[in-house]
Amino acid sequence: MQQKLQNTKNLVSGVFNKVHDKYDLMNNLMSFGIHKSWKKRLIYSMQPRKNKKLIDVACGTGDIAKLYIEATSSKSKIECVDPNTKMISLGKRKLKNYKNINWKVASAEKLPFKDSIFDYYSISFGLRNTKNLSKSLSEAYRVLKKGGRFFCLEFSKIDNDYLDLIYKNYSKLIPIIGEFVVGDKKPYEYLTKSISEFVDQDELIDLMKKNKFEKCKYNNFNGGVVALHSAWKL
Ligand SMILES: C[S@@+](CC[C@H](N)C(=O)[O-])C[C@H]1O[C@@H](n2cnc3c(N)ncnc32)[C@H](O)[C@@H]1O
Repeated sequence: MQQKLQNTKNLVSGVFNKVHDKYDLMNNLMSFGIHKSWKKRLIYSMQPRKNKKLIDVACGTGDIAKLYIEATSSKSKIECVDPNTKMISLGKRKLKNYKNINWKVASAEKLPFKDSIFDYYSISFGLRNTKNLSKSLSEAYRVLKKGGRFFCLEFSKIDNDYLDLIYKNYSKLIPIIGEFVVGDKKPYEYLTKSISEFVDQDELIDLMKKNKFEKCKYNNFNGGVVALHSAWKL
């Protein structure tokens, strides 16, 4: 399934080239720091075991990798994958003391890895940015081992009208905050548009099933502002 907005030439790469050096700051500001607890809940749901291999796609500045290493007492291997070299450079700098991370410049739709080699696959606030959801999901399935687990943290659809109204009004402020902090509102207009155009919780479950995943489920966080989807390769 192609995503129309994300297929606009150089749009997504341009967005992250513009925001990379303020990315962590803006995440903290826009979510009031709550993104940290969403990411912790991803790792908590994963319950990673030691000596298991994670691929974190759309890794950005490496937040998931850091939490995974901490949860496994550094006894695990991680491939951090992202097409944006600037985001990867920041991640490398931030996590320079963690030796068990490999960084790879690549996209979710075409992962440069052999079949069936990872125990866990995670993608946090990344699937929405890909050009093709089905290709990204089929690549996730391909690189996971049998018995491997898939986790996707992403903005989703709010299940309460009152909260939805508050959130929609708050979303209008995000480009203004972006203009103030980063000096450009366009990347944050992309953010709010890409969130509103993204598939809902059940549509993502359908796509996961179409791409052979089993035991597909999701949990809403903060009334569906964000959802954590998970599944197994069996
Ligand atoms: C919102 S950031 C998320 C970063 C990190 N996972 C986090 O949760 O903070 C989205 C990331 O997706 C990356 N990205 C954009 N297009 C992608 C694609 N086709 N495949 C994989 N990652 C992509 C961007 O470069 C960016 O680093």
